[in-house]
Amino acid sequence: MHEAGQPLSIETVDLGPLGPDDVLVKIGAASICHTDLEVLEGELRYPMPMVLGHEAAGTIAEVGGNVADLVPGDPVALHWNPHCGHCYYCDHGQPILCEPYTQNRAIGRHFDGEYRHSLKGKPLHMLMYLGGFAEYVIVPRQSAVKMPAGMPLDRACLLGCGVMTGFGAAAHVAPVQFGETAAVIGCGAIGLSAVQGARMKGAGQVVAIDLDDAKLEIAAAMGATATVNASREDAMARIKELSDGRGADAVYECAGSEKAFQDSVRMCRAGGQVVWLGKVNVDRDVAFKWGTLMGERKIVRSSYGGARPAEDFPALARAYLDGSLKLDEMITGRIPLDDINAGFDLLRAGKAIRTVVTFD
Ligand SMILES: NC(=O)c1ccc[n+]([C@@H]2O[C@H](COP(=O)([O-])OP(=O)(O)OC[C@H]3O[C@@H](n4cnc5c(N)ncnc54)[C@H](O)[C@@H]3O)[C@@H](O)[C@H]2O)c1
Ligand SMILES: [Zn+2]
Ligand SMILES: [Zn+2]
Repeated sequence: MHEAGQPLSIETVDLGPLGPDDVLVKIGAASICHTDLEVLEGELRYPMPMVLGHEAAGTIAEVGGNVADLVPGDPVALHWNPHCGHCYYCDHGQPILCEPYTQNRAIGRHFDGEYRHSLKGKPLHMLMYLGGFAEYVIVPRQSAVKMPAGMPLDRACLLGCGVMTGFGAAAHVAPVQFGETAAVIGCGAIGLSAVQGARMKGAGQVVAIDLDDAKLEIAAAMGATATVNASREDAMARIKELSDGRGADAVYECAGSEKAFQDSVRMCRAGGQVVWLGKVNVDRDVAFKWGTLMGERKIVRSSYGGARPAEDFPALARAYLDGSLKLDEMITGRIPLDDINAGFDLLRAGKAIRTVVTFD
């Protein structure tokens, strides 16, 4: 990507050198997340030129001198929150806020201050330490999580952002309790994963809300006990009806719209939990009726759903392999890298859940 609003171009770049704590990964599959689109459209403003893509899986091609626990050929899913382990935030158990990570996330400079990728001799930025829309990437060793045998790479890549984020909201950030009512606003990959996380945590009811019937059908297949098309039906009234007038115990906002943020707090019962996962333009104001924020509601904005990738990714992969986590239904298309701009068009038009770019 050279400029916001312009199509991506496919170019040959230079890689290396491989640092002692790095791995070189041959990408097998990388899916397109809404966040990639936000960068492409200039809503998130990052330095250029940049390689997009942050949901990716592949095989280890080469390891740095200090890497003893991965070998060439190992299948890995990549995550986008490598962290230093010893800054103020890491010490406080908040790796997503790690200082060197947040300073470099939008740049892709590694922890030693150096770039690993370049274009015509100039630094090439890699979205979220990753840049997965490429045949090869160099990432810190900690970004690569070994996958269990039999996990297909085009499913493994989904774990990297959307699945982890939605699932983690319901499993880690605001875990729904056995028998409680969860509401999920927006049923893209993030919301469908929140639906599944809530179901796995034992929610008694999972109410999925979207504007698109096709997405709601998939949500029902993934464990939603009720679906609401908010373009036709009053979602607030339906939630109240399903919860003796109280509102949902936990609400997961996965739509990324002002209306969805406002609805999320209004749908939540007094004393309940709200997790915001979506985003709007970073410079935009979002207004709330103050009363909707009151009543002991716990409201949290989360990036990455409290991810603990080293534990969560293998567990999610095993859940896929034993049939309890559904991923196949999220893949609405597979395309070669040459068609990447068409893949973005599908997401822009609301016609894709996840389009996966597959590599030979
Ligand atoms: N927090 C994070 O770490 C993180 C990670 C990835 C994506 N995101 C954000 O999460 C959001 C969802 O991502 P996605 O990839 O699933 O996107 P997506 O576009 O595939 O899905 C969003 C869904 O929300 C629905 N929707 C839109 N407005 C709605 C409304 N008012 N009420 C009900 N449904 C509505 C759309 O129909 C769509 O199905 C985006 O804002 C994205 O930027 C956050
Ligand atoms: Zn840190
Ligand atoms: Zn993402």
